[in-house]
Amino acid sequence: MYFIANWKMNPLTIVEARKIFASTKKYASNFRKTKVIVAPPALFLGDLLPKIKNSKLDLAIQNIYPGETGSFTGEVSSFMAKKAGIKYAIIGHSERRAMGETNDIISQKLKNALEIGMTPILCLGEKTRSDSGAYLSELEKQIKESLDGISKNNINSIIFAYEPVWAIGQKDGNALGANEIFEMVVLIRKVLTEKYDRHVAESVLILYGGSVSSKNIEQIIKDGRVDGVLVGHLSLYVEEVKSILEVLNNLSPRGKKK
Ligand code: PGA
Repeated sequence: MYFIANWKMNPLTIVEARKIFASTKKYASNFRKTKVIVAPPALFLGDLLPKIKNSKLDLAIQNIYPGETGSFTGEVSSFMAKKAGIKYAIIGHSERRAMGETNDIISQKLKNALEIGMTPILCLGEKTRSDSGAYLSELEKQIKESLDGISKNNINSIIFAYEPVWAIGQKDGNALGANEIFEMVVLIRKVLTEKYDRHVAESVLILYGGSVSSKNIEQIIKDGRVDGVLVGHLSLYVEEVKSILEVLNNLSPRGKKK
């Protein structure tokens, strides 16, 4: 089971970041059945990296530039992140897509991360929902275009995070319903079966993100049948982190019975 804490552009200071991180690390060692990955702002990564030694926790970078070094002001390369000891990279988050990141750019970042041996956390999700069902083709297009040129052998190295954009940053009652999450998980696996094969599609890890909290987590895992969650704003509240991990620790991925 996976718990990914996406801190986004928070907290304000390194002192606060250290505090949240220390508690998260403690909970990660208390609830060992869940893989905990924290994605802080890039500025804090260097400070937090030594703290993950001999722990169960890993760090992710929230975005990468696909390359090594060069004249790319404001960017951090995948190569630098990997060399520094960061194993995971969030790619294609909707907040970056909103800044102009296209499926084509995401596909380049994905290929690059895979080439250098980082585990990409690929975010996908429709912007809105309507009765026309256009969101289904929107998601399908995102999957196909993001995975363009990526071979079957590499698919299991990607963690998929389905995050409907309209459900992000809301109160927990506004998360997508667990049954609807499951429908989207089925769709993702169907598209992957068509592009690759059933075996690959069934084994791939799929997480849900979008207003996950300690109140809805159980339903999301059980009925959404996901392998974990990507948590944004509530991952900064350590009591919530603790409660979510407590619940996750007693569940099996995809809501399977133990
Ligand atoms: P949220 O964010 O938990 O604040 O909805 C999730 C995300 O954007 O990854």
